[in-house]
Amino acid sequence: MRDKSQNLTRRAAITGTGSALSVAAFSRLSASAQGAQKKTDRNQVDSKSLAGLAAAKGLAFGASFAVHELDRPHGERYAEIYRHDCQVIASELCLKLAVLRPAPHVIDFDPADRFFAFAAENGLGVHGHTLIWDDYVPDWTKTLSRDEVDHLLNAHILTVLERYQGKAETWDVVNEPIAPWDKNPGNLRQGPFYGRLGEDYIAKAFRLARQIEPNAKLRLNEAQTESADENGAVFRKSLLALLKRQLDQGVPIDAVGLQCHLQTKRPYDFEQFADYVAELLELGLDVEITELDVNDNAYTGSLAQRDQQVAALYSKFLTTVLANPAISSLVLWQMSDATSWMADPNIRDSLRADGRAARPLPYDKNFQRKKAWTAIADALEKIPARAARKGNAASDAVRR
Ligand code: G3I
Repeated sequence: MRDKSQNLTRRAAITGTGSALSVAAFSRLSASAQGAQKKTDRNQVDSKSLAGLAAAKGLAFGASFAVHELDRPHGERYAEIYRHDCQVIASELCLKLAVLRPAPHVIDFDPADRFFAFAAENGLGVHGHTLIWDDYVPDWTKTLSRDEVDHLLNAHILTVLERYQGKAETWDVVNEPIAPWDKNPGNLRQGPFYGRLGEDYIAKAFRLARQIEPNAKLRLNEAQTESADENGAVFRKSLLALLKRQLDQGVPIDAVGLQCHLQTKRPYDFEQFADYVAELLELGLDVEITELDVNDNAYTGSLAQRDQQVAALYSKFLTTVLANPAISSLVLWQMSDATSWMADPNIRDSLRADGRAARPLPYDKNFQRKKAWTAIADALEKIPARAARKGNAASDAVRR
């Protein structure tokens, strides 16, 4: 339920002068959330869980998390899986502009406060997804002037990062800036931010985020770079060029997130993708897997046969790509088929010709482990240990 007292004037919402209230709420939140011991000590992690197997190699493992799932009948089982198998959680919905700011004069922090409370209560690290994304934007942002978009970018980043200061180890400052179908220079995505501010919106966002959150890892997160086809090649080339332009201007990007939503209708050459990861590392950036799942819509046969093919793809992807010890974080996009975005009937990509539901994740719709869980676990046991690096919770745990 939105806190009516947080209703702000249109200008205040955009300029952020209404953020005083959020600071007060923020101080309450930090009081309650302080003292939470992040689950980075291996003694707190079951060594045979996905989190424990990953931590043994200095890898932080987790998945996206949606607070509204806690209110569904499977809520307790859902929470239990994250407590057992995850060290980090990514905010799937609650920190998106459309959820936080459904209308020009409203900021709704309730779901995000609940998300951070769950993370703090369960000692989970947080990847804040995402501050600025030129997709899924609320309709009211599409009619803003250049100045209003500029104010919104500043006010939004300021308000969110102030409220959750120190609560997220990583922030997706900009998500999916590439969209070749929009035919913009550099293949950048069209939207209120690019449309009004040009490519500069990216530098503005990262510079402001760095100012407010000097200790968080600031990440640019992108999709569709993985496939061995023309689409993947265009995304890889466009992302590499964008990162070079930003870094050449001294934009404070610490990491690049590669989402890795594997589409079984597309061809893959994971060795080629691993080479691309190495190219990104050459830029001096951390490289992280941020939204891994397998859309099995091209797989036929029985559920058991499909699950076997999905497991094999997880195994091939993880053992090839995580053979590089520089990758420090592996995050899936949910843990159960029941809560995957592909279970959403409105998502066209997941529709199978046979009308059956997608089976993309390590737990099935009844929250029971699948072959994919074992494949991920086996891959984690096979990959080399990560180079211990400062600020990587999992490798800190390993060092301890
Ligand atoms: O909760 C409402 C529900 O009350 C309403 O009845 C229903 C129908 O309108 O919508 C529900 O909200 C939906 C929400 O997912 C929860 O299911 C939103 O419409 C829908 O847009 C939203 O989709 C999310 C999408 O991002 C857009 O935010 C997906 O769950 C989420 O998995 C997806 O995640 C993205 C990453 O952020 C970026 N990378 C790609 C990834 C997959 O698309």
